[in-house]
Amino acid sequence: MGKVFQQESGGVFADSIQSILKNEFRAEPDWSSTTTSQHSIDMNENHPRFEPPRLYEQETSLELLANRHGLNQASMIDFSLNVNPFGCSPDAIAAAREAIENANVYPDINLSVLRAALSRKYRHAQEKYLFGAGLDDVIKLLIHAWASPKDKILVHLPTFPRYALEARMHGCEVIGVKGKDSKKFDIDRYAEALRNNPISMAFICSPNNPTGEFVSGDVIEYLARSSPRTIFVVDEALINPATEGSLRLPERLKNVAVLRTFSKLFGLAGMRVGFAIADERLIDAVRLVRPPFNVSLPAAAAAVAALEDDDFIAKCSRIFVEESEYFRRRISEKPGVAVVGSHGNMMLLELESLSSSQAAAKLASEGLVVADATSFDGLQNTATLRISLRSRTENEKLISALLAL
Ligand SMILES: Cc1ncc(COP(=O)(O)O)c(C=O)c1O
Repeated sequence: MGKVFQQESGGVFADSIQSILKNEFRAEPDWSSTTTSQHSIDMNENHPRFEPPRLYEQETSLELLANRHGLNQASMIDFSLNVNPFGCSPDAIAAAREAIENANVYPDINLSVLRAALSRKYRHAQEKYLFGAGLDDVIKLLIHAWASPKDKILVHLPTFPRYALEARMHGCEVIGVKGKDSKKFDIDRYAEALRNNPISMAFICSPNNPTGEFVSGDVIEYLARSSPRTIFVVDEALINPATEGSLRLPERLKNVAVLRTFSKLFGLAGMRVGFAIADERLIDAVRLVRPPFNVSLPAAAAAVAALEDDDFIAKCSRIFVEESEYFRRRISEKPGVAVVGSHGNMMLLELESLSSSQAAAKLASEGLVVADATSFDGLQNTATLRISLRSRTENEKLISALLAL
C-alpha cells in the first residue's frame, strides 16, 4: 500500500492528503494473492544491498580509465554521459553568477520564480510542480512519498536504472518487464504485468534511456486509464524541452506524473535541477518528504534563464540532428556496427563480432570513453554500447576508432 495512504504522524495536513489519495490510488492490499507476470523478472531475487548493480556512470569514470590505460585525463573525450556537449545558455551562467552573490541566504522555499516561469512556459497550475536536485533526487522523493516498503514498482527493461535502484533501497519489490524484442517497449506485456499485480508506481521512460524509444501519450493514457490505482511516472529527461511529449497528461489524469530535467538539452547537468508535474494532491504528498532547500539559489536562477533562451535549444537540437545523421551515414560503412536506437545525441550501437567490454576497453585505451550498455538490466546478453555524440571534430575521432574496430 502506498506510503501516502498510511502515514499516521503527519498531522492534519498530512492526514487529509492521505485520506483523499487513499480512496483514489490504493493498490489491492492482498499481497498473498500476488502473482508475477510470466514474462517479468523479479529483481529482488538477490538482495540489492549484497549484490550491488553495475552502474555505467562508475564504469566510465575518466579518472579510473585514465589510470587504467596510462592516459592524461584531460586528453580523454567522454561520449558516455548524456549531457549537452555545447554547454548551456550564456544567460544561465550570468544568472547563476549573479545569484551566488546571495550565497549566504537560503533559496526561496517554494522556488516561486522558477515555478512561475515553468508554469508560463508549459501552461500548468503552479501547484502542479515539484522540484529536486536533478531528477535523481525527484525519483527518490516520489518513491518515498508514493510507495511503501513491499509495494510493487513496475519498470520496462532496459531502462534508466535509478527507478529500480531507489525502489529496492526503499524496500519495494521491482517487477521488470522485458519485451519480446529486448529493445522495444512491449505494451502487451507491460499491461499484463499491471493486470496481474497490484502495482503502486509504474515507470515509463520516454524517450527511453538507452534505446531512445518514445512511448506515445496515447499509450500512456490507455495504460493509466486501465489502471487508475497505479501512479504512472513518465520520465521525459531526454526529450527536447521545446516539445510537448506527455506534458498535457497530468491535466487529464490524476494518476500520471511527468518528469523533466535541466540536465540534458538545457546543458545544466552540473547545476542539478529537475522537476515533476502531477496532480496537486500527489505533489502535496511529496512536499512532506522534500528537503525544503533541495535546489540551490544559483541552480534555480540558471534554470529560469535557460528556460527563456529558446534560441540555444533550437541551435543545439539542429546540431544534434546533423551530427546524428552524419554519424549514421559514416557508421553504415562498417558492417559490424549498427545503430539500433537513438534520440537526440544519444545512440545505442550493436556490435557483431566484438563484446561490449572489449570494444569499450579498446576505445578507452585510445582516450575515447563510451558506456558498455550491457550494464543495463535487459541488455546483459547483447554486445551494445551507448554513446552521446559531441562536436564534429570529436565525433570524427570516435567514428574512425569504431570503423577500425
Ligand atoms: C532517463 C533519465 N532520467 C533521469 C536522469 C537523471 O537526470 P538528472 O541529471 O536530472 O538527475 C537521467 C540522466 O541521465 C536520465 O537519462
